[in-house]
Amino acid sequence: MGVAVRLLLLPPLMAVAFCCYGVSGRSHFHKKPPRGSGGRRSGGGGKEGSVVSSPVVPPADDDTQPVTPQPPTGIVPSDPATPDEPCVFDVRAYGAVGDGTTDDTQAFREAWKAACASDFAVLLVPSDGTFTITTTTFSGPCKPGLVFQVDGVLMPPDGPDCWPASDNRRQWVVFSNLDGMTLRGSGTIEGNGEDWWNLPCKPHRGPNGSTLRGPCDSPTLVRFFMSRNLVVEGLRVENSPEFHFRFDGCSDVRVDGLYISSPANSPNTDGIHVENTERVAIYNSRISNGDDCISIGTGSYDVDIQNVTCGPGHGISIGSLGVHNSQACVANVTVRNAVIRNSDNGLRIKTWQGGMGAVSGITFDTVVMENVRNCIIVDQYYCLDKRCMNQSTAVHVTDVSYTNVRGSYDVRAAPIHFACSDTVPCTNITMSEVELLPASGELVDDPFCWSAYGTQQTPTIPPITCLQEGLPDALLDNPDLKCR
Ligand SMILES: *[C@@H]1O[C@H](CO)[C@@H](O)[C@H](O)[C@H]1NC(C)=O
Ligand SMILES: *[C@@H]1O[C@H](CO)[C@@H](O)[C@H](O)[C@H]1NC(C)=O
Ligand SMILES: *[C@@H]1O[C@H](CO)[C@@H](O)[C@H](O)[C@H]1NC(C)=O
Ligand SMILES: *[C@@H]1O[C@H](CO)[C@@H](O)[C@H](O)[C@H]1NC(C)=O
Ligand SMILES: *[C@@H]1O[C@H](CO)[C@@H](O)[C@H](O)[C@H]1NC(C)=O
Repeated sequence: MGVAVRLLLLPPLMAVAFCCYGVSGRSHFHKKPPRGSGGRRSGGGGKEGSVVSSPVVPPADDDTQPVTPQPPTGIVPSDPATPDEPCVFDVRAYGAVGDGTTDDTQAFREAWKAACASDFAVLLVPSDGTFTITTTTFSGPCKPGLVFQVDGVLMPPDGPDCWPASDNRRQWVVFSNLDGMTLRGSGTIEGNGEDWWNLPCKPHRGPNGSTLRGPCDSPTLVRFFMSRNLVVEGLRVENSPEFHFRFDGCSDVRVDGLYISSPANSPNTDGIHVENTERVAIYNSRISNGDDCISIGTGSYDVDIQNVTCGPGHGISIGSLGVHNSQACVANVTVRNAVIRNSDNGLRIKTWQGGMGAVSGITFDTVVMENVRNCIIVDQYYCLDKRCMNQSTAVHVTDVSYTNVRGSYDVRAAPIHFACSDTVPCTNITMSEVELLPASGELVDDPFCWSAYGTQQTPTIPPITCLQEGLPDALLDNPDLKCR
């Protein structure tokens, strides 16, 4: 992980040797900033690019929020003395206007093309503009050390009516086929999602609260596809038409210090979705939205989530997995030092009837719940329309531990709910220091288990008496449940 960052910290000489001579619109970073000078000196000309490199730290609203400030990354602008740092490709130098209405797509394409071809380049979206671009794929391969720096506002056209007919409606900004890229900045990616959320095909947005038939495609705001060694840090990203971030087919991803925000009633606005992606770190971020805070789909391995605050929203979710009798595998996911508040779910694993494969090696450690419905839930009967038949196979859920999960739950649902498959029980669930109290009112439903095997290392609050001991024979050597 962190290749891009490491490259940027190479000795200045490395950068000199390769740095974009003869490229129009170029400018350079320089070291040794006057401390406290702020560093925001974006002109319009692009001759003197500037960069604010300290990531935005999401605002704290109380003392439980776990976001940590980050050290400056060491690249800050100063006077144009020596060309010893990466080149800056300011989108304005390629014709971007940044007045909030002009379509700047072409300028971004050209700036990308130039930056991509240059070592240690920074594509700069300057802080004094609001730039609108249409669906764009920024693809590699590119030279090493590329940074896409959003210090201003970057946004798509305002809603479906303004979306160019020829553009993909499933995605907006796509980064593809890259190795060692950083997306960062002190600015905002503004999704302008409202008109998408209100389409009559969205849940209950049709006439009289109905849901009209689709297609109901809405764009993911930022998608990383088939890429590796990615860093995403410090940005504010809000009001996405659908998922805010999606990583698929990637590896070695570090997300740090993001602030993601959409209204609690915005449909399908997952904060960060990961799928078919390995070695992912999601740290020090705050996410509030109308769907899953973080969702983890099939083919995700080694996902490390730390210091994340979620809510309102639907909590941290593994799944849904195994739809249409598919094989699904997720392994080695850790969630540590998280806060989940005012959410419909807390820590959720959801699978469809009829799948194959396994969810294994899941660690939930030190999670604070505040007024959360379904704090701890495994649902192997996941179904959208309540008409799913029970089937004879399922994705196996195993080796899941809940340690030091405390706080308060919304009494409308049982705080602990393990609804495992009849034919493929959940196994080796371990619970220790799980203490959940009603946020207000009285517990309505006791903890629930069905086909769930595991142990309590310390007595839970509320007490859970329904976990079964041992291991069911039925599971041994079932080849359908094997992953890699
Ligand atoms: C999580 O937050 C703690 C306390 O602020 C900090 O010491 C730690 O480095 C953070 N973890 C990560 C992975 O950034
Ligand atoms: C909405 O409900 C009202 C009152 O029930 C009814 O008069 C009206 O026809 C309904 N509109 C549609 C489009 O179904
Ligand atoms: C699980 O993750 C840890 C740390 O993220 C890693 O060291 C370990 O190798 C992973 N285990 C497996 C089985 O992938
Ligand atoms: C599926 O199985 C569960 C557990 O045995 C049961 O509670 C539920 O009613 C079944 N659903 C259907 C549609 O048969
Ligand atoms: C049960 O799961 C834990 C991780 O939660 C793992 O360390 C342990 O080895 C598993 N036990 C068995 C018997 O597989």
